[in-house]
Amino acid sequence: MADMRNIVILTGAGISAESGIDTFRDAGGLWEQHKVEDVATPEAFERDPDLVLRFYDMRREAIQAKQPNAAHEALAKLDAAWDGGLLIVTQNVDDLHERAGASRVLHMHGTHLNAWCTACDMRAKWTGPMLDRPACPECGERALRPDVVWFGEMPYEMDRIYASLRKADLFVSIGTSGAVYPAAGFVQEAREMRVRTLELNLEASMGSRWFHESRHGPATQLVPQWVDEVLGG
Ligand code: APR
Repeated sequence: MADMRNIVILTGAGISAESGIDTFRDAGGLWEQHKVEDVATPEAFERDPDLVLRFYDMRREAIQAKQPNAAHEALAKLDAAWDGGLLIVTQNVDDLHERAGASRVLHMHGTHLNAWCTACDMRAKWTGPMLDRPACPECGERALRPDVVWFGEMPYEMDRIYASLRKADLFVSIGTSGAVYPAAGFVQEAREMRVRTLELNLEASMGSRWFHESRHGPATQLVPQWVDEVLGG
């Protein structure tokens, strides 16, 4: 712990589960309620944009009614107190890390609260619906889509993520199943670069065997405990 300067934290849907936001692959999760190929691919958007926009309008509205939990708050506390390198790479498209006060956050799968105009490439904060095809505030075209990364699309800022992993002393994975690449591969890359690795998850994930240490339990318990350890509380 003493010589640890740079930390990279990967978070997934499990960190927001106790805020009342469904995960994707747990029992009753989103991908049991909706088919990925109907709502989360560019082909689906091409085929039936109403179905896709209605799905994301529902999600965008739902997350604005949710609150950060003790796990988000603990990471915000670490972000404020840690004077070494820190990057929270989230796969989540909610804004609970930021609403808890964290600033060193990177959304590799985009965010629900941004619109992306496919006509002029404008990206801007967006809290309302898109189903009624609102005009782009920049170019006026009715060509907005959610600024989230769909299956088959490239995640954002991969260079910055790998650069942080290369400098890291510790890689921590919180609330993710390890089912989706490239995020699921970060632990192996970290291991190859002799980075210490820790998993905090409700149960064993598909990548658990790659971690030096795995702790299982709810994020609202494990994350504050771990942050207190790091800050020497
Ligand atoms: N505390 C800690 N971990 C939890 C909790 C909790 N309260 N509840 C669930 N988990 C764990 C589950 O055990 C599971 O391993 O969180 C993980 C959630 O896994 P997924 O639903 O697969 O979500 P995630 O890993 O974030 O999915 C990755 O897949 O669907 C795409 O783009 C989407 O970003 C998403 C990506």
